Amino acid sequence: MDRYTHGHHESVLRSHAWRTAENSAGYLLDSLQPGMDLLDVGCGPGTITIDLAERVAPGRVVGIDSQSEVIARADELRQRREQANVTFSVGDVYALRFDDARFDVVHAHQLLQHLTRPIDALKEMYRVMRPGGILGVRDSDYAAFAWAPRDPRLERWMHLYHEVTRRNGAEADAGRHLLGWVQTAGFTDAMASSSTWTFADPEGRAWWGGSWADRVRLSSFADQALEYELADRDELDSLADAWKQWADKPDGFFAVLHGEVLARRPAIDP
Ligand SMILES: C[S@@+](CC[C@H](N)C(=O)[O-])C[C@H]1O[C@@H](n2cnc3c(N)ncnc32)[C@H](O)[C@@H]1O
Repeated sequence: MDRYTHGHHESVLRSHAWRTAENSAGYLLDSLQPGMDLLDVGCGPGTITIDLAERVAPGRVVGIDSQSEVIARADELRQRREQANVTFSVGDVYALRFDDARFDVVHAHQLLQHLTRPIDALKEMYRVMRPGGILGVRDSDYAAFAWAPRDPRLERWMHLYHEVTRRNGAEADAGRHLLGWVQTAGFTDAMASSSTWTFADPEGRAWWGGSWADRVRLSSFADQALEYELADRDELDSLADAWKQWADKPDGFFAVLHGEVLARRPAIDP
């Protein structure tokens, strides 16, 4: 079983639950039509999934995630938003419990970067797509993140993030690799683009910097950095201070680059 770097501490879920179809799946929206059946793989707390379900209704939407606690949270949100055409269940992207050719659209946001075998995952996503169906995948690319002002502790944070994910066999810079992975998995008509999240006003800085200040101390990322002996508690505390100080700076700027790819399962398999 792959080891998920972030885990589901409240500081991580706070960050994931901010996501919407508009801010995280804009590249896919024009391809969606009412009536399409859609699978969201690695759906996390389900905010994007439910937005997508609104757009494809009355099509049926399924969100799956390997972690039952986050699926429970997604299901609570489904009930609160009274979204009738979506269900959530526990599942593994490497062994999807669906028949072949079941979905018109398969979507995964920020999943492939956490996997040791992203191409195998894409092949499994291909299997459950109808011929001619649409794939939408988007992942961040850590090495391409840009921020100011400079702070050596934030550079250390980036280095540590790469070290921890490498130990987990995952690719933190997945955004730039998506196009190649999708091609290798056998999809056709692949179109790559990129988009960013920017945090550069007081509210955005407080939210992003506050989330990372907690994540570097309290989430699975912190536990793994300690377990792998890549950092000690004092260093994690100092990284948290760096994030808090960055969040308080009036000139603080942070841009998160994502790669994204739209592709199709060929109408006739080669
Ligand atoms: C970074 S989160 C993204 C969540 C959601 N897509 C979003 O963007 O808000 C990645 C999610 O993938 C899930 N995940 C990791 N490995 C998985 C696997 N093998 N199969 C299914 N889900 C997996 C994690 O539990 C986590 O909820």
